[in-house]
Amino acid sequence: MTNIAILGTLWGDEGKGRITHSLSSQYDWIIRYSGGNNAGHTIYRNGVKYVHNLLPSFDWRDPNQKCFLASGMVIDVEQLYNEVFAAEKAYSDYTGLIDNKLNRLGSRIYVDPDAFVVLPGHKEEDKAANVHIGSTNRGIGPAYKSKVGRCGVRIIDLIRSSNSFINKLINIGVHFKHVLELKKCFSSSNLLFEGAQGVMLDLNHGVYPYVSCGDATVAGIYASGFANVKLDAVYGVSKAYLTKVGEGPFPTEIFGEQADALREQGKEYGATTGRPRRVGWLDLAALNYAIQKGGINKLILTKFDVLYGMDEVKLCVNYDKEPVCPSDFYDAKPQYITVPGWKSYNDKNLKDFIKIIEETVKCSVEYISCGIKDEDFKPIIVVDS
Ligand code: IMP
Ligand code: MG
Repeated sequence: MTNIAILGTLWGDEGKGRITHSLSSQYDWIIRYSGGNNAGHTIYRNGVKYVHNLLPSFDWRDPNQKCFLASGMVIDVEQLYNEVFAAEKAYSDYTGLIDNKLNRLGSRIYVDPDAFVVLPGHKEEDKAANVHIGSTNRGIGPAYKSKVGRCGVRIIDLIRSSNSFINKLINIGVHFKHVLELKKCFSSSNLLFEGAQGVMLDLNHGVYPYVSCGDATVAGIYASGFANVKLDAVYGVSKAYLTKVGEGPFPTEIFGEQADALREQGKEYGATTGRPRRVGWLDLAALNYAIQKGGINKLILTKFDVLYGMDEVKLCVNYDKEPVCPSDFYDAKPQYITVPGWKSYNDKNLKDFIKIIEETVKCSVEYISCGIKDEDFKPIIVVDS
């Protein structure tokens, strides 16, 4: 069996959804294990754009794929119902099988009843208390705070109290199963764990307090009850340039006309909130930190096409001192090199850019993505040919 994880390396929005979706055909279960509907994972199916907030980025066109929302997540059940309902509709439009119970998408969705719940009060608390963080106001931090404060509510509590959204989810076929109830199935399946956010937004290792509250590293997989899983690869996804939503340090941020042009070119507006994203150059000091803290051993780089036609591209190869802890990002002084730009995915300059990355962070780049179509996602061997 093969098990992999796909993590965000820095500030989220690297294109994990697109990568998960592209690789998902080789996996039986696509599993989310952290965060909640603060995440926005963008997927294109047959040219149509979909955003998954709670559901993993599985390819529902493939009837063999199932998904699992593991206990490390915090789940707003109303949002989950809305998302599953919308996905069911899109799926029946796609298959033409209207109301055929056997083919219901809902029956391929599993939720661990031990996951904690986001309650309306949590969203109110976010709005009142977390503006300075740039929170998405989805109640994620306050829900984790209740969990840690030992006063949280779990999905299992809502099942026991016959919550109306849980009942609706059960009616459309969604299963509520603990990780151990599925252990036989998991141990004989190929598993793809899809991270949420990125290592620099991790509660422990990100730029605290400007972080989310889940586990963006591999730790979240183990914490969700997959303690014995053997991961064959942990892929870290990064864009060829960087973006960030919300407040907090962003050492390689750029401003002014150049930033505006890059934001427009890359359509860099939040998938969840629509906020304009801050933009900057690729930061190999932060990437190196994230690889080590995240447990990442292979890289996937995305959005090279956004930089097509630029004469020069800047790249931060280090800071004045190597960052070893979150506070090192606050006063970091990036050291840049400038390299020639590229015009297509098989341009030698792009290949050289990737080589600099691999040599600096000592981690191989396995795939690149240069657009939203399936054929724009390529194993790195294509670049070498
Ligand atoms: P919260 O998790 O919604 O409270 O947000 C905390 C910080 O993490 C804010 O800076 C958000 O913009 C950021 N954040 C949370 N989720 C994501 C995500 O999926 N992508 C990018 N940034 C995120
Ligand atoms: Mg996103």
